[in-house]
Amino acid sequence: MKTIWVFLFALLCYQAESAGFNGLGQTPQMGWNNFNHFPVGIHEQIIRETADAIITTGLSKLGYVYVNIDDRWANLDRDSQGNLVANSTTFPSGIKALADYVHSKGLKIGIYSDAGNQTCAKTQPGSLGYEEQDANIFASWGIDYLKYDNCHNEGVDTKQRYTKMSKALNKTGRSIFYSLCEWGQEDPATWGPKIANSWRTTGDIHDDWHRMTSTADKNDKWASYAGPGGWNDPDMLEVGNGKMSTEEYRSHFSIWALMKAPLLLGCDIRSMSPETVEIITNEEVIQVNQDSLGVQGKKVSKKGKLEVWAGPLSNKRYTFILWNRSPESASITAKWKDIGPSDDSVFKARDLWNHSDLQDTFQGSLTSTVDSHACKMYILTPSSS
Ligand code: GAL
Repeated sequence: MKTIWVFLFALLCYQAESAGFNGLGQTPQMGWNNFNHFPVGIHEQIIRETADAIITTGLSKLGYVYVNIDDRWANLDRDSQGNLVANSTTFPSGIKALADYVHSKGLKIGIYSDAGNQTCAKTQPGSLGYEEQDANIFASWGIDYLKYDNCHNEGVDTKQRYTKMSKALNKTGRSIFYSLCEWGQEDPATWGPKIANSWRTTGDIHDDWHRMTSTADKNDKWASYAGPGGWNDPDMLEVGNGKMSTEEYRSHFSIWALMKAPLLLGCDIRSMSPETVEIITNEEVIQVNQDSLGVQGKKVSKKGKLEVWAGPLSNKRYTFILWNRSPESASITAKWKDIGPSDDSVFKARDLWNHSDLQDTFQGSLTSTVDSHACKMYILTPSSS
C-alpha cells in the first residue's frame, strides 16, 4: 500500500514538474516583438498600430497574442523611488496606458529588461539588484511577459540572477510569462525548465540564410529539454524582413514550428507582403508548433546538405520536413527508421504547404524533390485511423 502512495506522489511531482514552473507556456508562445524590424526607433505608436494590425489581419485568431516591447522603452534614470520610468519622448502615455490599450484588443503585452546594470543598448537601467521592485511595477502595469536579457551583468552568477527574477515575478501574484535571454551561454536548457517558460539557446538571429540555418542547428542540440511549460528559444522570426527569399522564409518558419520554437513575428505587421502573410498564417504548420504532445522535432538524417527533420505529434501522428540546404534542386527521402515508427507501418501523408493529401499511402519511406533552400513539410497519420 505504502508503495502505491509513494508512486502516486512521485507521479504528481513529475506531472507538476513537466507542466512547467508557473503553468504558463503549455505550448510555445506566439506573438510579435519589435527588435528584428525596429532594433532602434521603437515608440508607442508602433506598438498600438501593431496591436491593431494583429487583430485586423486575423493573426490573433491564429494564436499570435503577445505584443512584446524590446530594449529602449525606458528612461536611463529611475525615478526618486527607484522605479523604472517609460521614456517620456517615445512612450509619453506610459506603459500602463499602453498595456490597457493592448488588453482592450484581447491581446497580451510583454516587456524587456536585463539581468545586469544596464540593458544591451545601454539606454535604460537593468534590473540587477532591483528584481522585486521591477517585477512589482511590471505587474502593476499589467505586464504579461518578461524577456530578460544578459548584458552588463557584472559577472554575477547567471543562475542566481535569473532565479531571483523568476521568484520576484512569481511573488507578484500576476501570471507573467518568463523568457530568459541568456544566449545559451551556460546551457540554460538544463536549468531553465525549473524557473522559466523559455530560454534562448543561441546568440541573435539575423535576416540571413546562413545565420538562420546555423541558429537552427545550435537549437537542435537541446531538443530533449523542451516540453509543455518550457521551450528552447532559437530567437525570433525574420520572416518578412526582406533579406531572404520566400522559400528560405518558408523553411525558417517550418523548422521553427517543428522545433516547437516560440513563434514571435519580427516583421512590420502593418505592411506585410502577400508571401509573408501566406507563410505566417499557415494554420496547419502552426498546429504542428502548438500540438499538445509538445515534443520538439529534430534533425534525424543528413546527407550533405539534404536533411530530414522530424518529430512525433499527438494521436500517433508524425511530422517531418524534407529540407534542401544545397544550391540545387534534389530528391530527399525520409525513412521511418529515422523518424520513429516501425518500418512496416503504413501512413497517409498530408503536404502542409500544398494543403493537400497525397494520393498514395506510404510504408517505410517517402521521397520527394525539393528546390534549393526550400522545404516540404508533411504530417503522417496511421492509415487505419
Ligand atoms: C540582445 C538580445 C536581442 C535584443 C537586444 C536588445 O542581447 O539577444 O534579442 O533584445 O539585446 O538590445
